[in-house]
Amino acid sequence: MLLACPDVPLPKEDAVARCVAELDRRLGPSKVDTREATRLSCASDESDAAGRTPAAVVHAERTEDVALALEIAERHDVPVTPRAGGTGRTGGAVPAAGGVVLSTATLSRVLEISRGDLLCVVEPGVVTADLHEAVEREGLFYPPDPNSLKTCMIGGNVAENAGGPRAFKYGVTGAYVLGLEACLMGGRVLSTGRRTVKGVTGYDVTSLLVGSEGTLAVFTKATLRLVRKPPEIATVLGLYHDVAACAEAVQRIIGGGLVPRCLELMDGRTLEALRAQGAAVDPRAGAMLLAEIDGDGPLDDHLARLGEALELGGRALDVVAAQDASQRARLWEARRQLSPATRKLAKHKLSEDIVVPRTKLVELLAEVDRIGAETGVAYLTYGHAGDGNLHVNFLWNDDAERESVDRAIGLLMRATVALGGTLSGEHGIGIAKAEYLPLEQSSELIALQQDLKRVFDPRGLLNPGKIFPAGGHRSC
Ligand code: LAC
Ligand code: ZN
Repeated sequence: MLLACPDVPLPKEDAVARCVAELDRRLGPSKVDTREATRLSCASDESDAAGRTPAAVVHAERTEDVALALEIAERHDVPVTPRAGGTGRTGGAVPAAGGVVLSTATLSRVLEISRGDLLCVVEPGVVTADLHEAVEREGLFYPPDPNSLKTCMIGGNVAENAGGPRAFKYGVTGAYVLGLEACLMGGRVLSTGRRTVKGVTGYDVTSLLVGSEGTLAVFTKATLRLVRKPPEIATVLGLYHDVAACAEAVQRIIGGGLVPRCLELMDGRTLEALRAQGAAVDPRAGAMLLAEIDGDGPLDDHLARLGEALELGGRALDVVAAQDASQRARLWEARRQLSPATRKLAKHKLSEDIVVPRTKLVELLAEVDRIGAETGVAYLTYGHAGDGNLHVNFLWNDDAERESVDRAIGLLMRATVALGGTLSGEHGIGIAKAEYLPLEQSSELIALQQDLKRVFDPRGLLNPGKIFPAGGHRSC
């Protein structure tokens, strides 16, 4: 664990005990898990944020379980941390105040897939890759594809407004959420949004809940927009001497009016991590661009234009097209393994998900190099270049380096904001980035959001310690 627990009010031990006893009595012991192994497994996520082990994990099986758990917890003044897949990168599902974890992983049914209305209704525990499969069997397509798609769940995707490689063409999770069923702290159940393509009734509460990182409500159903599955797909790789040439190719593709569905950049150190995993990456390459296009009809013309842009006037080392679906699958498997592969390169890794306007990508990469040189911290960069969204990963082995790493992260956040960018494109703020929020947002905007939070959860019991900078951090 690298990030200290936020300084949040802790519940009274006897209140927690009474709360767990009532949960057990009213929900039934099969839904209230107090085994140490379960509690420990719900104390962390895939970030380095430290949590406080919860006293119990509630496994909700229906909306009424979620509502009842939130009613009981509020009455006992006990904090609740919602959790679906637990694959988050910023500590969103990490219980900062202990209390109770409310898991919706067991609410995992696909309730409806409508070809006519182009939508589906799902529970929050549906694994994203399973939803892809289910809708694709019907000739439909749910585009959001976070790289953890085989383990992450729709509830967490909505809570964090997750992205993924296909966001370049199709947009992030929020672009597909038509409506939500959500339970508030205290047990009220709300239905927000709609099943229609259009709808402008009242405030857009659905959009407020999307990306609220489990701090406003716990989702029990999501109505998601679908599109027709594009029948044609083509995947092409561009290999370059350096990352600057690679970023130039990105700008050439976008500037040329092409809209690939994915445009993924990998720098030289990232390619080394891939080679260390046994991937056969051209030894001359110091950067790589993975581009994928899709469409309804033949892609030849688009493919030719994409190839030309990737060639970069003869400066590319090579441009290679995947020959079939299995080659494409291998390329994506390698890309999806990047996060675990880079984790193996050093004892510690912190991964950012900053975004800059696409036209600033070359400048951002130069800034990253400057920050690496100035602080001496090892780093590697890959990510969703088409969106200007990069995962800059800082790596270190010696605890004494931690101070320099913090400096590097601070410099990166400042540089991102100075370039007109944002601190997080897809992983959320959670615990990990809370202290940097004031770099991007004014105190007035932060205060307004905290006021909104109080409307939904007056006692501050739902997922405390997230998003907003607290009064300092202390070690757990
Ligand atoms: C990725 C995750 C870390 O793109 O967002 O690999
Ligand atoms: Zn990503």
